[in-house]
Amino acid sequence: MLLSTIPSEEVLFHPSSGSDWNGRVFEWNHDIYRAIGPCYVDVLAKLLHEGVLRKLTEQGLLIQTEVTPLHLDGYPMVVKHRRLPFVSYAAEWSATMMKDVALLLIDLERELVPFGLSNHDVNPWNVLFDWTKPIFVDLGAIMPLETDTIWPATKRNAFWPAYDQFCQLILYPLYLMSWGHARIARSLLNDYKGVLKAEFLKLSPHAPCRHQTALPQLGRSVARRAAQMAQRFLPQTVRSVVKTRLLRERIAAPGPKPDIASRLRFLDRCRQEVESIKLEPSDRYWSDYYNAFHGGQVPPFNETPEWTVKNHNVFKILRALGPQTILDMGSNTGWYSQLAATNGNQVVAFDTDETCVDQLYYRARTNNLAVLPLVMDFRSPSPGAGPCNNWLLPATERLQCDMVLALAVVHHLVSKRYLTFGQIAQTLSMFAKRRVLVEFMPPEDQYVRDWRTREFDWYTTDNFLSSLKQHFSRLQILESYPSPRKLILCER
Ligand SMILES: C[S@@+](CC[C@H](N)C(=O)[O-])C[C@H]1O[C@@H](n2cnc3c(N)ncnc32)[C@H](O)[C@@H]1O
Repeated sequence: MLLSTIPSEEVLFHPSSGSDWNGRVFEWNHDIYRAIGPCYVDVLAKLLHEGVLRKLTEQGLLIQTEVTPLHLDGYPMVVKHRRLPFVSYAAEWSATMMKDVALLLIDLERELVPFGLSNHDVNPWNVLFDWTKPIFVDLGAIMPLETDTIWPATKRNAFWPAYDQFCQLILYPLYLMSWGHARIARSLLNDYKGVLKAEFLKLSPHAPCRHQTALPQLGRSVARRAAQMAQRFLPQTVRSVVKTRLLRERIAAPGPKPDIASRLRFLDRCRQEVESIKLEPSDRYWSDYYNAFHGGQVPPFNETPEWTVKNHNVFKILRALGPQTILDMGSNTGWYSQLAATNGNQVVAFDTDETCVDQLYYRARTNNLAVLPLVMDFRSPSPGAGPCNNWLLPATERLQCDMVLALAVVHHLVSKRYLTFGQIAQTLSMFAKRRVLVEFMPPEDQYVRDWRTREFDWYTTDNFLSSLKQHFSRLQILESYPSPRKLILCER
Protein backbone atom coordinates (compact mmCIF):
# COMPACT_ATOMS: atom_id res chain seq x y z
CA MET A 1 0.00 0.00 0.00
CA LEU A 2 1.24 3.47 -0.92
CA LEU A 3 1.19 5.83 2.08
CA SER A 4 0.15 9.39 1.43
CA THR A 5 -0.36 12.27 3.79
CA ILE A 6 -3.54 14.33 3.57
CA PRO A 7 -2.70 18.05 3.57
CA SER A 8 -4.13 19.35 6.88
CA GLU A 9 -5.37 22.55 5.25
CA GLU A 10 -7.64 20.53 2.94
CA VAL A 11 -9.59 18.76 5.68
CA LEU A 12 -12.74 20.00 7.33
CA PHE A 13 -13.12 18.56 10.85
CA HIS A 14 -16.63 17.91 12.08
CA PRO A 15 -17.20 20.60 14.74
CA SER A 16 -18.63 18.15 17.31
CA SER A 17 -15.70 15.72 17.22
CA GLY A 18 -13.18 18.23 18.59
CA SER A 19 -12.76 16.68 22.04
CA ASP A 20 -12.86 13.00 21.10
CA TRP A 21 -9.40 11.59 21.83
CA ASN A 22 -10.23 8.37 20.02
CA GLY A 23 -10.59 10.02 16.67
CA ARG A 24 -11.93 12.96 14.75
CA VAL A 25 -14.32 12.84 11.86
CA PHE A 26 -13.46 14.99 8.86
CA GLU A 27 -14.44 15.61 5.26
CA TRP A 28 -11.88 15.50 2.51
CA ASN A 29 -12.54 15.40 -1.23
CA HIS A 30 -16.29 15.01 -0.54
CA ASP A 31 -15.69 11.80 1.46
CA ILE A 32 -16.04 11.13 5.19
CA TYR A 33 -12.97 9.99 7.13
CA ARG A 34 -12.02 9.41 10.74
CA ALA A 35 -8.52 10.26 11.95
CA ILE A 36 -7.68 7.63 14.57
CA GLY A 37 -6.09 9.02 17.74
CA PRO A 38 -3.00 7.25 19.21
CA CYS A 39 -5.07 5.96 22.17
CA TYR A 40 -7.53 4.17 19.84
CA VAL A 41 -5.01 2.34 17.64
CA ASP A 42 -4.93 -0.78 19.85
CA VAL A 43 -8.75 -0.94 20.06
CA LEU A 44 -9.01 -0.63 16.28
CA ALA A 45 -6.37 -3.36 15.87
CA LYS A 46 -8.49 -5.63 18.11
CA LEU A 47 -11.66 -4.80 16.13
CA LEU A 48 -9.89 -5.67 12.89
CA HIS A 49 -7.96 -8.69 14.16
CA GLU A 50 -10.95 -10.36 15.84
CA GLY A 51 -13.25 -9.63 12.89
CA VAL A 52 -15.58 -7.44 15.00
CA LEU A 53 -15.57 -4.55 12.53
CA ARG A 54 -16.43 -6.82 9.60
CA LYS A 55 -19.20 -8.55 11.55
CA LEU A 56 -20.81 -5.31 12.72
CA THR A 57 -20.74 -3.70 9.28
CA GLU A 58 -22.02 -6.85 7.56
CA GLN A 59 -24.94 -6.93 9.97
CA GLY A 60 -25.70 -3.29 9.18
CA LEU A 61 -25.16 -2.29 12.84
CA LEU A 62 -22.13 -0.07 12.23
CA ILE A 63 -21.36 2.23 9.31
CA GLN A 64 -19.17 0.58 6.63
CA THR A 65 -15.58 1.46 7.45
CA GLU A 66 -12.32 0.68 5.68
CA VAL A 67 -8.72 1.27 6.71
CA THR A 68 -6.94 3.59 4.28
CA PRO A 69 -3.23 4.02 3.52
CA LEU A 70 -3.70 7.74 4.28
CA HIS A 71 -2.13 9.75 7.08
CA LEU A 72 -3.05 12.98 8.79
CA ASP A 73 -0.72 15.04 10.93
CA GLY A 74 -0.96 13.90 14.59
CA TYR A 75 -2.98 10.78 13.82
CA PRO A 76 -1.37 7.41 13.16
CA MET A 77 -4.23 5.98 11.09
CA VAL A 78 -7.13 7.16 8.92
CA VAL A 79 -10.28 5.13 8.16
CA LYS A 80 -12.93 5.97 5.59
CA HIS A 81 -16.66 5.72 6.34
CA ARG A 82 -19.48 5.28 3.85
CA ARG A 83 -21.31 8.58 3.38
CA LEU A 84 -25.02 8.33 4.12
CA PRO A 85 -27.44 10.30 1.94
CA PHE A 86 -28.90 12.67 4.55
CA VAL A 87 -28.28 13.57 8.18
CA SER A 88 -31.32 13.61 10.48
CA TYR A 89 -31.61 14.08 14.24
CA ALA A 90 -33.62 12.35 16.96
CA ALA A 91 -36.06 15.25 17.40
CA GLU A 92 -37.11 14.64 13.78
CA TRP A 93 -37.73 10.89 14.09
CA SER A 94 -41.15 9.31 14.44
CA ALA A 95 -41.89 6.95 17.32
CA THR A 96 -41.33 3.83 15.20
CA MET A 97 -38.00 5.23 14.00
CA MET A 98 -37.02 5.82 17.64
CA LYS A 99 -38.00 2.26 18.50
CA ASP A 100 -35.84 0.93 15.65
CA VAL A 101 -32.93 3.02 16.94
CA ALA A 102 -33.40 1.55 20.44
CA LEU A 103 -33.32 -1.98 19.03
CA LEU A 104 -30.25 -1.18 16.92
CA LEU A 105 -28.32 0.04 19.99
CA ILE A 106 -29.26 -3.03 22.02
CA ASP A 107 -28.33 -5.38 19.16
CA LEU A 108 -25.01 -3.60 18.69
CA GLU A 109 -24.21 -3.91 22.40
CA ARG A 110 -25.17 -7.61 22.29
CA GLU A 111 -22.60 -8.20 19.54
CA LEU A 112 -19.89 -6.38 21.51
CA VAL A 113 -20.36 -8.24 24.82
CA PRO A 114 -18.56 -11.51 23.85
CA PHE A 115 -15.48 -9.49 22.84
CA GLY A 116 -15.28 -7.65 26.18
CA LEU A 117 -16.29 -4.45 24.42
CA SER A 118 -19.09 -1.94 24.93
CA ASN A 119 -20.61 1.05 23.20
CA HIS A 120 -19.82 3.84 25.66
CA ASP A 121 -21.70 6.62 23.91
CA VAL A 122 -25.20 5.60 22.85
CA ASN A 123 -26.47 9.09 22.13
CA PRO A 124 -28.86 9.38 19.18
CA TRP A 125 -26.58 11.83 17.35
CA ASN A 126 -24.33 8.79 16.83
CA VAL A 127 -27.08 7.14 14.78
CA LEU A 128 -28.05 8.07 11.24
CA PHE A 129 -30.72 6.69 8.96
CA ASP A 130 -29.78 5.02 5.70
CA TRP A 131 -33.29 5.69 4.35
CA THR A 132 -35.32 3.50 6.70
CA LYS A 133 -32.42 1.66 8.31
CA PRO A 134 -30.74 3.14 11.39
CA ILE A 135 -26.95 2.66 11.59
CA PHE A 136 -24.48 3.49 14.38
CA VAL A 137 -21.77 5.80 13.04
CA ASP A 138 -19.40 6.55 15.93
CA LEU A 139 -16.67 3.91 15.74
CA GLY A 140 -14.67 5.61 18.52
CA ALA A 141 -17.44 4.98 21.06
CA ILE A 142 -16.71 1.24 20.90
CA MET A 143 -14.21 0.59 23.69
CA PRO A 144 -13.23 -2.14 26.16
CA LEU A 145 -15.92 -2.70 28.79
CA GLU A 146 -13.75 -1.36 31.63
CA THR A 147 -13.14 2.05 29.99
CA ASP A 148 -14.53 5.05 31.84
CA THR A 149 -17.84 5.93 30.30
CA ILE A 150 -17.50 8.74 27.75
CA TRP A 151 -20.71 10.47 28.72
CA PRO A 152 -20.06 12.15 32.07
CA ALA A 153 -23.63 13.04 32.98
CA THR A 154 -24.76 9.60 34.18
CA LYS A 155 -23.72 6.78 36.46
CA ARG A 156 -22.01 3.72 35.08
CA ASN A 157 -24.19 0.64 34.90
CA ALA A 158 -22.43 -2.69 35.50
CA PHE A 159 -24.36 -4.55 32.80
CA TRP A 160 -24.16 -1.85 30.15
CA PRO A 161 -21.98 1.13 31.12
CA ALA A 162 -23.94 3.58 28.98
CA TYR A 163 -27.35 2.24 30.02
CA ASP A 164 -28.40 5.43 31.86
CA GLN A 165 -27.58 7.43 28.75
CA PHE A 166 -29.62 4.94 26.72
CA CYS A 167 -32.56 5.55 29.08
CA GLN A 168 -32.38 9.36 29.00
CA LEU A 169 -31.85 9.76 25.29
CA ILE A 170 -33.67 6.79 23.78
CA LEU A 171 -35.85 4.72 26.12
CA TYR A 172 -37.57 7.48 28.11
CA PRO A 173 -38.33 9.57 24.99
CA LEU A 174 -39.73 6.42 23.38
CA TYR A 175 -41.99 5.78 26.39
CA LEU A 176 -43.15 9.40 26.30
CA MET A 177 -44.01 9.02 22.62
CA SER A 178 -45.96 5.84 23.36
CA TRP A 179 -47.92 7.68 26.08
CA GLY A 180 -48.94 10.44 23.67
CA HIS A 181 -46.28 12.92 24.86
CA ALA A 182 -44.38 13.02 21.56
CA ARG A 183 -44.14 16.81 21.60
CA ILE A 184 -42.52 16.79 25.04
CA ALA A 185 -40.16 13.99 24.00
CA ARG A 186 -39.22 15.86 20.84
CA SER A 187 -38.51 19.12 22.70
CA LEU A 188 -36.33 17.37 25.28
CA LEU A 189 -34.47 15.51 22.54
CA ASN A 190 -33.06 18.86 21.47
CA ASP A 191 -31.17 18.88 24.78
CA TYR A 192 -28.05 16.71 25.17
CA LYS A 193 -29.34 15.33 28.49
CA GLY A 194 -32.59 14.12 26.95
CA VAL A 195 -35.28 13.13 29.46
CA LEU A 196 -34.08 12.95 33.07
CA LYS A 197 -35.29 10.05 35.23
CA ALA A 198 -37.18 12.45 37.56
CA GLU A 199 -38.96 14.02 34.58
CA PHE A 200 -39.73 10.59 33.18
CA LEU A 201 -41.26 9.39 36.46
CA LYS A 202 -43.36 12.55 36.81
CA LEU A 203 -44.74 12.17 33.29
CA SER A 204 -45.34 8.44 33.62
CA PRO A 205 -49.01 7.47 33.84
CA HIS A 206 -47.88 4.20 35.48
CA ALA A 207 -45.82 3.13 38.47
CA PRO A 208 -42.10 3.13 37.69
CA CYS A 209 -42.11 -0.67 37.72
CA ARG A 210 -43.37 -0.47 34.11
CA HIS A 211 -39.77 0.25 33.26
CA GLN A 212 -38.63 -3.34 33.71
CA THR A 213 -34.88 -3.27 33.08
CA ALA A 214 -34.42 -0.68 35.81
CA LEU A 215 -35.58 -3.16 38.45
CA PRO A 216 -32.34 -5.01 39.27
CA GLN A 217 -30.64 -1.62 39.61
CA LEU A 218 -33.50 -0.20 41.63
CA GLY A 219 -33.42 -3.18 44.05
CA ARG A 220 -29.71 -2.87 44.57
CA SER A 221 -29.75 0.88 45.15
CA VAL A 222 -32.64 0.61 47.66
CA ALA A 223 -30.70 -2.07 49.56
CA ARG A 224 -27.54 0.02 49.52
CA ARG A 225 -29.45 3.01 50.87
CA ALA A 226 -30.97 0.83 53.65
CA ALA A 227 -27.50 -0.35 54.62
CA GLN A 228 -26.21 3.25 54.75
CA MET A 229 -29.13 4.30 56.99
CA ALA A 230 -28.49 1.31 59.24
CA GLN A 231 -24.82 2.30 59.56
CA ARG A 232 -25.80 5.83 60.60
CA PHE A 233 -28.64 5.27 63.02
CA LEU A 234 -28.48 1.79 64.59
CA PRO A 235 -26.45 0.92 67.74
CA GLN A 236 -23.04 -0.64 67.13
CA THR A 237 -24.03 -4.25 67.95
CA VAL A 238 -27.12 -4.20 65.75
CA ARG A 239 -25.12 -2.44 63.05
CA SER A 240 -22.55 -5.17 62.74
CA VAL A 241 -25.24 -7.86 62.57
CA VAL A 242 -27.09 -5.96 59.83
CA LYS A 243 -23.86 -5.30 57.95
CA THR A 244 -22.73 -8.94 58.06
CA ARG A 245 -26.13 -10.09 56.99
CA LEU A 246 -26.44 -7.67 54.14
CA LEU A 247 -22.94 -8.44 52.99
CA ARG A 248 -23.66 -12.15 53.09
CA GLU A 249 -26.67 -11.63 50.93
CA ARG A 250 -24.53 -9.45 48.62
CA ILE A 251 -27.11 -6.75 48.29
CA ALA A 252 -25.41 -3.95 50.21
CA ALA A 253 -22.20 -4.33 48.27
CA PRO A 254 -21.92 -2.83 44.79
CA GLY A 255 -23.30 -5.41 42.34
CA PRO A 256 -20.96 -8.24 41.41
CA LYS A 257 -19.06 -7.73 38.18
CA PRO A 258 -21.44 -9.32 35.72
CA ASP A 259 -20.22 -12.07 33.44
CA ILE A 260 -20.98 -12.32 29.74
CA ALA A 261 -24.11 -14.40 30.28
CA SER A 262 -25.65 -11.95 32.73
CA ARG A 263 -24.80 -8.97 30.50
CA LEU A 264 -26.51 -10.75 27.62
CA ARG A 265 -29.53 -11.55 29.81
CA PHE A 266 -29.76 -7.88 30.77
CA LEU A 267 -29.70 -6.88 27.09
CA ASP A 268 -32.32 -9.50 26.25
CA ARG A 269 -34.57 -7.97 28.91
CA CYS A 270 -33.92 -4.51 27.41
CA ARG A 271 -34.89 -5.85 23.98
CA GLN A 272 -38.08 -7.46 25.28
CA GLU A 273 -38.98 -4.25 27.06
CA VAL A 274 -38.49 -2.11 23.93
CA GLU A 275 -40.37 -4.59 21.75
CA SER A 276 -43.29 -4.54 24.16
CA ILE A 277 -43.71 -0.74 23.94
CA LYS A 278 -46.94 -0.17 22.01
CA LEU A 279 -47.02 2.85 19.74
CA GLU A 280 -50.52 4.20 19.34
CA PRO A 281 -51.32 6.54 16.44
CA SER A 282 -51.24 10.06 17.87
CA ASP A 283 -53.59 11.75 15.43
CA ARG A 284 -55.79 10.06 12.88
CA TYR A 285 -56.99 13.24 11.14
CA TRP A 286 -54.38 13.63 8.40
CA SER A 287 -53.44 9.97 8.16
CA ASP A 288 -56.82 9.30 6.57
CA TYR A 289 -56.32 12.06 3.96
CA TYR A 290 -55.77 9.83 0.96
CA ASN A 291 -58.63 7.54 1.85
CA ALA A 292 -60.96 10.50 2.34
CA PHE A 293 -59.76 12.53 -0.62
CA HIS A 294 -59.49 9.76 -3.18
CA GLY A 295 -62.89 8.18 -2.61
CA GLY A 296 -61.62 5.61 -0.12
CA GLN A 297 -58.86 4.43 -2.48
CA VAL A 298 -55.13 5.04 -2.38
CA PRO A 299 -54.18 5.20 -6.08
CA PRO A 300 -51.59 2.69 -7.37
CA PHE A 301 -48.07 3.89 -8.25
CA ASN A 302 -48.18 2.86 -11.90
CA GLU A 303 -50.05 5.06 -14.38
CA THR A 304 -53.70 3.97 -14.52
CA PRO A 305 -56.99 5.55 -15.64
CA GLU A 306 -57.79 6.08 -11.92
CA TRP A 307 -55.05 8.71 -11.72
CA THR A 308 -56.10 12.33 -11.47
CA VAL A 309 -54.61 15.09 -13.62
CA LYS A 310 -52.47 16.04 -10.58
CA ASN A 311 -51.08 12.48 -10.33
CA HIS A 312 -50.30 12.50 -14.09
CA ASN A 313 -48.69 15.94 -14.16
CA VAL A 314 -46.47 15.36 -11.13
CA PHE A 315 -45.35 12.02 -12.58
CA LYS A 316 -44.67 13.60 -16.00
CA ILE A 317 -42.48 16.28 -14.41
CA LEU A 318 -40.53 13.76 -12.32
CA ARG A 319 -39.99 11.59 -15.40
CA ALA A 320 -38.95 14.49 -17.64
CA LEU A 321 -36.61 16.24 -15.21
CA GLY A 322 -35.24 13.21 -13.32
CA PRO A 323 -34.09 15.00 -10.17
CA GLN A 324 -31.78 12.78 -8.12
CA THR A 325 -33.06 14.05 -4.78
CA ILE A 326 -36.54 15.27 -3.81
CA LEU A 327 -37.79 16.93 -0.64
CA ASP A 328 -41.54 16.35 -0.17
CA MET A 329 -42.82 19.03 2.25
CA GLY A 330 -46.17 18.34 3.91
CA SER A 331 -45.94 14.80 2.51
CA ASN A 332 -48.83 13.33 4.52
CA THR A 333 -48.53 9.52 4.23
CA GLY A 334 -46.29 10.16 1.23
CA TRP A 335 -48.09 9.04 -1.90
CA TYR A 336 -45.90 11.36 -4.01
CA SER A 337 -42.79 10.39 -2.02
CA GLN A 338 -43.44 6.75 -2.77
CA LEU A 339 -44.25 7.53 -6.41
CA ALA A 340 -40.91 9.36 -6.73
CA ALA A 341 -38.93 6.62 -4.96
CA THR A 342 -40.57 3.96 -7.12
CA ASN A 343 -39.45 6.07 -10.08
CA GLY A 344 -35.79 5.96 -8.89
CA ASN A 345 -35.61 9.32 -7.08
CA GLN A 346 -34.18 9.63 -3.56
CA VAL A 347 -36.69 11.26 -1.23
CA VAL A 348 -36.74 13.09 2.09
CA ALA A 349 -40.30 13.70 3.25
CA PHE A 350 -41.59 15.66 6.20
CA ASP A 351 -44.91 16.41 7.81
CA THR A 352 -46.10 17.72 11.17
CA ASP A 353 -48.43 14.77 11.58
CA GLU A 354 -46.58 12.02 13.45
CA THR A 355 -49.00 9.28 12.44
CA CYS A 356 -48.52 10.09 8.75
CA VAL A 357 -44.73 10.06 9.13
CA ASP A 358 -44.90 6.74 10.95
CA GLN A 359 -47.10 5.27 8.20
CA LEU A 360 -44.74 6.43 5.47
CA TYR A 361 -41.75 5.06 7.41
CA TYR A 362 -43.52 1.72 7.76
CA ARG A 363 -44.40 1.53 4.04
CA ALA A 364 -40.97 2.68 2.84
CA ARG A 365 -39.29 0.17 5.18
CA THR A 366 -41.56 -2.66 4.05
CA ASN A 367 -41.00 -1.88 0.36
CA ASN A 368 -37.33 -0.97 0.76
CA LEU A 369 -37.78 2.49 -0.78
CA ALA A 370 -35.20 5.29 -0.74
CA VAL A 371 -37.37 7.51 1.46
CA LEU A 372 -36.36 9.24 4.70
CA PRO A 373 -39.57 10.37 6.48
CA LEU A 374 -39.22 13.00 9.21
CA VAL A 375 -41.41 14.95 11.62
CA MET A 376 -40.96 18.66 10.96
CA ASP A 377 -42.95 21.85 10.61
CA PHE A 378 -42.51 23.99 7.49
CA ARG A 379 -42.90 27.00 9.76
CA SER A 380 -39.97 26.02 12.00
CA PRO A 381 -37.51 23.73 10.24
CA SER A 382 -34.91 22.37 12.72
CA PRO A 383 -32.37 25.10 13.46
CA GLY A 384 -28.62 24.68 13.94
CA ALA A 385 -27.44 24.03 17.51
CA GLY A 386 -24.36 23.79 19.68
CA PRO A 387 -21.47 26.19 20.21
CA CYS A 388 -21.16 28.42 17.13
CA ASN A 389 -24.46 26.86 16.06
CA ASN A 390 -22.63 24.23 14.04
CA TRP A 391 -22.61 20.96 16.02
CA LEU A 392 -26.04 20.25 14.64
CA LEU A 393 -26.68 21.71 11.22
CA PRO A 394 -29.96 23.40 10.31
CA ALA A 395 -32.45 21.45 8.20
CA THR A 396 -32.02 24.02 5.41
CA GLU A 397 -28.40 22.84 5.01
CA ARG A 398 -28.86 19.11 5.64
CA LEU A 399 -32.01 18.47 3.65
CA GLN A 400 -31.50 20.57 0.52
CA CYS A 401 -32.63 18.63 -2.56
CA ASP A 402 -32.56 19.03 -6.34
CA MET A 403 -36.33 19.45 -6.36
CA VAL A 404 -38.80 20.45 -3.65
CA LEU A 405 -42.43 19.30 -3.75
CA ALA A 406 -44.97 21.36 -1.79
CA LEU A 407 -48.31 19.90 -2.81
CA ALA A 408 -51.64 20.94 -1.30
CA VAL A 409 -49.91 22.64 1.58
CA VAL A 410 -49.61 26.39 0.81
CA HIS A 411 -53.19 27.22 1.89
CA HIS A 412 -52.52 25.49 5.26
CA LEU A 413 -49.35 27.50 5.76
CA VAL A 414 -51.31 30.71 5.18
CA SER A 415 -54.50 29.90 7.09
CA LYS A 416 -53.09 27.89 10.03
CA ARG A 417 -49.46 29.03 10.32
CA TYR A 418 -50.06 32.66 9.28
CA LEU A 419 -47.17 32.69 6.81
CA THR A 420 -46.99 35.26 4.02
CA PHE A 421 -46.36 34.28 0.40
CA GLY A 422 -42.93 35.89 0.72
CA GLN A 423 -41.99 33.65 3.65
CA ILE A 424 -43.30 30.54 1.88
CA ALA A 425 -41.42 31.31 -1.36
CA GLN A 426 -38.20 32.04 0.53
CA THR A 427 -38.39 28.81 2.55
CA LEU A 428 -39.05 26.78 -0.60
CA SER A 429 -36.06 28.44 -2.22
CA MET A 430 -33.77 27.71 0.76
CA PHE A 431 -34.46 23.97 0.49
CA ALA A 432 -34.35 23.74 -3.33
CA LYS A 433 -31.04 23.36 -5.14
CA ARG A 434 -32.69 23.85 -8.50
CA ARG A 435 -36.46 23.47 -8.76
CA VAL A 436 -39.72 23.65 -6.82
CA LEU A 437 -43.03 22.09 -7.78
CA VAL A 438 -45.65 23.86 -5.67
CA GLU A 439 -49.40 23.48 -5.77
CA PHE A 440 -51.60 26.55 -5.34
CA MET A 441 -55.23 26.63 -4.30
CA PRO A 442 -56.68 29.82 -5.84
CA PRO A 443 -59.18 31.88 -3.82
CA GLU A 444 -62.07 30.16 -5.68
CA ASP A 445 -61.04 26.70 -4.33
CA GLN A 446 -63.73 25.40 -1.97
CA TYR A 447 -61.24 24.85 0.92
CA VAL A 448 -59.90 28.39 0.53
CA ARG A 449 -63.35 29.95 0.25
CA ASP A 450 -64.18 28.48 3.67
CA TRP A 451 -61.53 30.47 5.57
CA ARG A 452 -60.58 33.38 3.33
CA THR A 453 -61.81 36.61 4.95
CA ARG A 454 -60.98 40.26 4.24
CA GLU A 455 -57.73 40.05 6.18
CA PHE A 456 -56.55 37.57 3.50
CA ASP A 457 -57.31 39.85 0.56
CA TRP A 458 -53.72 39.49 -0.54
CA TYR A 459 -54.27 35.72 -1.07
CA THR A 460 -54.39 35.82 -4.91
CA THR A 461 -52.70 33.78 -7.63
CA ASP A 462 -50.90 36.85 -9.01
CA ASN A 463 -49.42 37.71 -5.61
CA PHE A 464 -48.23 34.14 -5.13
CA LEU A 465 -46.57 34.09 -8.56
CA SER A 466 -44.85 37.44 -7.83
CA SER A 467 -43.39 36.06 -4.59
CA LEU A 468 -42.06 32.98 -6.41
CA LYS A 469 -40.52 35.18 -9.13
CA GLN A 470 -38.31 36.81 -6.47
CA HIS A 471 -36.41 33.51 -6.21
CA PHE A 472 -36.95 31.67 -9.49
CA SER A 473 -36.41 32.91 -13.03
CA ARG A 474 -38.81 30.55 -14.85
CA LEU A 475 -42.34 29.57 -13.83
CA GLN A 476 -44.56 27.11 -15.67
CA ILE A 477 -48.21 26.57 -14.74
CA LEU A 478 -49.97 23.21 -15.12
CA GLU A 479 -53.42 21.90 -14.20
CA SER A 480 -53.98 20.15 -10.90
CA TYR A 481 -56.85 18.34 -9.25
CA PRO A 482 -59.51 19.21 -8.38
CA SER A 483 -59.86 22.26 -10.62
CA PRO A 484 -59.07 25.21 -10.25
CA ARG A 485 -55.91 24.15 -8.36
CA LYS A 486 -52.64 24.74 -10.21
CA LEU A 487 -49.20 23.18 -10.18
CA ILE A 488 -46.39 25.71 -10.55
CA LEU A 489 -42.99 24.47 -11.66
CA CYS A 490 -40.30 26.97 -10.61
CA GLU A 491 -36.72 26.87 -11.89
CA ARG A 492 -33.74 28.98 -10.87
C1 LIG B 1 -53.64 18.16 2.06
S1 LIG B 1 -52.30 17.25 2.68
C2 LIG B 1 -51.26 17.15 1.24
C3 LIG B 1 -50.48 15.87 1.15
C4 LIG B 1 -49.61 15.72 -0.10
N1 LIG B 1 -48.61 16.73 -0.18
C5 LIG B 1 -50.49 15.72 -1.33
O1 LIG B 1 -50.49 16.66 -2.10
O2 LIG B 1 -51.16 14.73 -1.55
C6 LIG B 1 -51.51 18.50 3.60
C7 LIG B 1 -50.42 17.96 4.52
O3 LIG B 1 -49.64 19.06 4.94
C8 LIG B 1 -49.28 18.85 6.28
N2 LIG B 1 -48.96 20.14 6.86
C9 LIG B 1 -49.80 21.15 7.15
N3 LIG B 1 -49.11 22.16 7.70
C10 LIG B 1 -47.82 21.79 7.73
C11 LIG B 1 -46.62 22.40 8.19
N4 LIG B 1 -46.64 23.61 8.75
N5 LIG B 1 -45.46 21.73 8.07
C12 LIG B 1 -45.44 20.48 7.54
N6 LIG B 1 -46.53 19.85 7.11
C13 LIG B 1 -47.71 20.49 7.20
C14 LIG B 1 -50.50 18.20 6.89
O4 LIG B 1 -50.16 17.51 8.10
C15 LIG B 1 -50.94 17.29 5.77
O5 LIG B 1 -50.41 16.01 5.91
